Amino acid sequence: MKSQTKTIVPLILLGSVCVVFGLTLYAQTGSKSNGPVFTADNQLMRPANYREWIWVSSGLGMTYGPREQANSPAEPRFDNVFVTPEAYRAFMKTGKWPNKTMFVLEIRSSQSHGSINKDGHFQGDLVTIEAEVKDEGRFPEKWGFFPFRGSEQTARPAPPATTECQSCHSKNGAVDNTFVQFYPTLLEVARQKGTLRQVPPDSK
Ligand code: HEC
Repeated sequence: MKSQTKTIVPLILLGSVCVVFGLTLYAQTGSKSNGPVFTADNQLMRPANYREWIWVSSGLGMTYGPREQANSPAEPRFDNVFVTPEAYRAFMKTGKWPNKTMFVLEIRSSQSHGSINKDGHFQGDLVTIEAEVKDEGRFPEKWGFFPFRGSEQTARPAPPATTECQSCHSKNGAVDNTFVQFYPTLLEVARQKGTLRQVPPDSK
């Protein structure tokens, strides 16, 4: 009996250590930061889990650039905007984007006739994703823009001096290079916090 206890007690202890270790590991992986990850040569890694970030809003058939204008109006593309949860929470408190904020713009085709749907549009295949990162230490303009090509796992920064990304965003974005004017819930927060900047009047 005594020798049985001698074996069981260490086994129970070992089991408890394993459980605690496992839970700690789970908690660490679960709360892993969503911030940007760069390769040694300054390329941005494709964020694998951006669909678990905060969805900000969607656009349908928006035409603001040459690529979008080439779209057929009969099949207007959707775009879905996601932001890292840490940045979202900071924005809700301050109306500003903290350092290491990261956005993904996901562009999808649209479909109309499918299943029981007769009219209107629903989202189809992924066309591409584009990312935008605020990193004041890394980019002189504070924000870096990354168009991902196809399913490539890394993207090079668009060169800031020439890039149309940078100039359109810094000129027209309502809050710090970003298009908060098109994200209704964030727009309300920026209004309340007084962080909206003057943007050009609507081109009606
Ligand atoms: C002519 C203007 C224009 C250009 C050029 C442009 N964008 Fe944007 N971008 C927009 C608009 C407008 C939105 C808002 C989309 C929406 O409301 O769904 C946007 C949204 C975004 C977002 C979501 C976060 C935000 O800033 O609101 C990302 C990421 C993004 N663009 C990346 C890029 C990248 C990368 C490039 C260059 C390859 C680029 N954009 C070029 C106008 C532009």
